[in-house]
Amino acid sequence: MKTIKHVGVIGAGTMGRGIVEVMARQEIDVYLYDQDRSAVERAFVHIQNQLDKQVYRTKISEQQKMKMLASIHPVDQLHAFHTCDLIIEAIMEEMSVKQQLFKALEKVVSTSCILATNTSSLSVTEIASVMQNPKRMLALHFFNPAPKMPLVEVVVGVHTDQNVAEEMKTWLKQTLLKEPVMVRDAPGFIVNRVARPFHTEAYRMVASGETSKTQVDNILQDAGFKMGPFQLQDLIGIDINYAASMSVYESFNHEPRLRPHPNQQKMLQSGLLGRKTKKGHYHYE
Ligand code: NAI
Repeated sequence: MKTIKHVGVIGAGTMGRGIVEVMARQEIDVYLYDQDRSAVERAFVHIQNQLDKQVYRTKISEQQKMKMLASIHPVDQLHAFHTCDLIIEAIMEEMSVKQQLFKALEKVVSTSCILATNTSSLSVTEIASVMQNPKRMLALHFFNPAPKMPLVEVVVGVHTDQNVAEEMKTWLKQTLLKEPVMVRDAPGFIVNRVARPFHTEAYRMVASGETSKTQVDNILQDAGFKMGPFQLQDLIGIDINYAASMSVYESFNHEPRLRPHPNQQKMLQSGLLGRKTKKGHYHYE
């Protein structure tokens, strides 16, 4: 199995910081870059707070916490990734921006470095189509919050080398103690595809006055779901969830059953993006 000593993470938002924490907990050297430097600082403080909670609950010692934090290296240029064995991209959900980034990355990383995207719904094959060596490219789709959620969808694109995917699956399981599942590069992969009507139908019912957001969320929780659709959207980010809806809708040539509800777009336009802006369907302090 390929040895993964140094991991690069690009994007220090909701997912990037979670993925960094996953690496740090295993004391894997992890390099974090974001085009917004303050996002990297916020991510570090967030991880520090999360680890403080672990110390408080006596899950880890203060000394372990310090070692974990010491394995995180904020960097301010892509060139700093030249020693990385694996890079995981967790930036905005937009095809052209991701493609541009991977093109730039190929110029600075070693030829053996594995490149992964954490996209929730975009085609890995299409992202990799601009790369010189698309064989080393795949998606490692972590779920939110990454340190708590065991599932990782390992998405194999048309050009992905099967050995690379197998190696990543083994590493995720043995080193990161995750539950990786190999899936095809289909729109929305598995989880986000099945989740589309969960979100859209909830919007429809509320818009038609049949119920309220709180009632939907409460009932679904009573039915055994960890969260209702509106609570989940606030956690994911209204923007990210909308991007996933649009991506699946477009991939199926605008099939009406997959059309996002207009209120989903209204929420996005309002700038109320959920927990990350402290306001979404609900308010957070
Ligand atoms: P976010 O909006 O919280 O964070 C994105 C970060 O990327 C921001 O800090 C931004 O400054 C940075 N960024 C944007 N463009 C960049 C560029 N060109 N170079 C460097 N940094 C850049 O987004 P979030 O939620 O962390 O999502 C990131 C990726 O993870 C997306 O592809 C999303 O689909 C995927 N994802 C999101 C999940 C969620 O629940 N939010 C779950 C699983 C995957």
